[in-house]
Formats: sequence, structure tokens, C-alpha cells
Amino acid sequence: MGNNRVCPVERSGSLDTGFRKWLQDSQKILHPYVKEGMTVLDFGCGSGFFTVDMAHMVGESGRIIAVDLQEGMLEKLREKIQGTEYEERIILHKCEKDTIGIAQQVDFILAFYVVHEVPHQDMFFKEIQSTLKKNGLMLVVEPPFHVSAKAFRQEVEKAQEAGLTACEGPKVLFGKTVILKKGK
Ligand SMILES: C[S@@+](CC[C@H](N)C(=O)[O-])C[C@H]1O[C@@H](n2cnc3c(N)ncnc32)[C@H](O)[C@@H]1O
Repeated sequence: MGNNRVCPVERSGSLDTGFRKWLQDSQKILHPYVKEGMTVLDFGCGSGFFTVDMAHMVGESGRIIAVDLQEGMLEKLREKIQGTEYEERIILHKCEKDTIGIAQQVDFILAFYVVHEVPHQDMFFKEIQSTLKKNGLMLVVEPPFHVSAKAFRQEVEKAQEAGLTACEGPKVLFGKTVILKKGK
């Protein structure tokens, strides 16, 4: 089980700062994985700290499916992209606690600071496995103090039990990372 304390909407401002952009540069972290024309799932997108930059990276022919449990988070993202070129590229989807609920398969999934909030991680990773295209990748980043080494290892084990292959993740300041791959 994750520790299941969902980040409140009132905290979204602290996730979306210039200082964080400097600490966790989306281009540096994501450019090896996010390419033009891809369909990307931003799971637990919050107010969209990474969503908009990824929409830029996938270009006009790509799509971002921005998924969150809380309508309030999606509303913040909606306000951010309203009237911009990204409005058509970003599909907002409110999920349920235990299911993502999208029919489409995707090339890449980002789950930044969210897996520990998911209640049933075994079910979650099974759904991830069926949501990824063959050879698709997922980047999981967890907060290093909040999620212990043991809890992180357990998350990775659940992903492996669901059939995903774990590989070394990129270096992220204030992040424990892993890349999960569908296929060997
Ligand atoms: C700490 S915030 C991180 C937001 C964003 N990924 C970022 O790095 O700025 C965690 C987000 O995950 C969402 N969340 C928590 N549990 C979830 C679940 N079971 N399914 C989908 N989203 C969830 C929360 O609503 C919140 O917006």
C-alpha cells in the first residue's frame, strides 16, 4: 500500500515555482524520453508543472493525457493552458483512486511525486503495464525523504511483479528515480 495521503490542491502553488524549475529542469530530466509525436501520460499531473513543458516537447502532432484524482488540480492546469497553443494538445482526465481509466496506449508515462499516494500499487502497476505500448517507458520519481529506500524498493518490486523491467533512472535533485520498461 502507498501511504495514501493525497497532496492537497492548496499546496499546488509550492509545486509550481521558479525555484523548482531551476532544481528540476524538465528539459534536462525528460529530453531522453519525450520525443516529437509521442502520446504521453502525465499521471498525477497536479497543476501541471511538467505537463506544459512535455506538451511543448511532443510538438503539434503529439498529445499529453494529464490525469489527476482531484478536479481542483485539473482546474489549475486548465486555467494555465486556456487560450494557449497547448490547449488542444493536452487532454485532461479525472481518474478514480484505484483506476486510471483510459483506453488508449501511450509511449511514455511520467509519475512524479505520486506513486506513494496511490493506495493499491500492485493494481496500479498492472494497469500501467496494459496502458504502455510495447517498449514504452515510465519514469517514476519519488520524494527522497518522504519515501524511504525500503518503500521505494517495494514500489519497484510491485512494478516488476506486474511484468515491467526496472532500469536505472536519471539523476534528479530531490528525487529517487527508476525507469520502468514494458518488455525486456
Ligand atoms: C505531490 S503532487 C505532484 C504533482 C506533479 N506530478 C508534480 O510533480 O508537480 C501529487 C499529485 O498526484 C495526485 N494523485 C494522488 N493520488 C492519485 C491517484 N490515485 N491517482 C491519480 N492522481 C493522484 C494528487 O491529486 C496530486 O495532484
